[in-house]
Amino acid sequence: MPDRIRLDGKVAVVTGAAGVIGAATTRLLAERGARIVAVDRKAQELQAAIKELPASAQALGLTADVTDEDEVAGYVRAAVDKFGAIDVFYNNAGIEGDIAPIPKYSLATFRRVLDVNVVGVFLGLKHVLPVMLKQNKGSIINTASIAGLIGSPDIAVYSASKHAVIGLTKSAALECSTTGVRVNCVCPGMIDSRMLSAIIEGRNPGNAPVPSERIVERIPARRLGLAAEVASVVAFLASDEASYVSGSAYTVDGGRTAG
Ligand SMILES: NC(=O)c1ccc[n+]([C@@H]2O[C@H](COP(=O)([O-])OP(=O)(O)OC[C@H]3O[C@@H](n4cnc5c(N)ncnc54)[C@H](O)[C@@H]3O)[C@@H](O)[C@H]2O)c1
Repeated sequence: MPDRIRLDGKVAVVTGAAGVIGAATTRLLAERGARIVAVDRKAQELQAAIKELPASAQALGLTADVTDEDEVAGYVRAAVDKFGAIDVFYNNAGIEGDIAPIPKYSLATFRRVLDVNVVGVFLGLKHVLPVMLKQNKGSIINTASIAGLIGSPDIAVYSASKHAVIGLTKSAALECSTTGVRVNCVCPGMIDSRMLSAIIEGRNPGNAPVPSERIVERIPARRLGLAAEVASVVAFLASDEASYVSGSAYTVDGGRTAG
């Protein structure tokens, strides 16, 4: 069967493109035909991620901090200068912060997590939306988390930040409701990744590694998710196949939040 979720000719900007989910998604969007602008604050890792992309992606790698408004305006301008449009924006950069109960959580880290996960997503929306509204088309996908739908001990601030991402997503979708611009978010569950390992280790410091059966016992699918499985949902939301989908928060969690 031909693949209907094609992105041929579309220009996709991805933040956090050097990370596990960002790199997998950048790869899939490029494989589906998109041209790529990849953004991350880690220059070396970003270059490594870009090297894997097909030549058809004409990939532009930009080092920028998503919390700095001038740098956000800069990557948006660079994307438009190079490709003349932004059709897809995967607003994905995020950090987990400290893994600690609230009484032990540092205020500085609290502010940093909100800065990256909420202000960073807000600034991306603020600067990409005018480009898409002028085009009368575009698809924005923010990365929230299942921690944006339910509480999560020891990562309360991360959870609060992802609840905020869902609020930003729904509000932006409503602001764009009569335009051709759609805004959605994905809520990944436990994805096999550096971030998940950091959270599991942080909850269990200095102890033997948690056995994998214990990690997956609360996931109905009884396994971790793959970054590629998040990427597939992002590619769908990015595509014209999702033309009537806006304001949604798509869980990619093996059923974790279903019950
Ligand atoms: N891994 C999971 O299990 C999981 C689950 C749910 C949601 N998420 C979310 O998915 C997104 C990607 O996570 P990941 O697992 O790929 O993590 P990751 O740490 O592998 O990737 C995150 C990337 O964001 C970049 N980044 C961080 N702060 C930045 C900043 N200020 N400016 C620019 N780039 C910055 C990092 O350099 C990194 O490359 C995050 O928003 C995360 O919260 C992850």
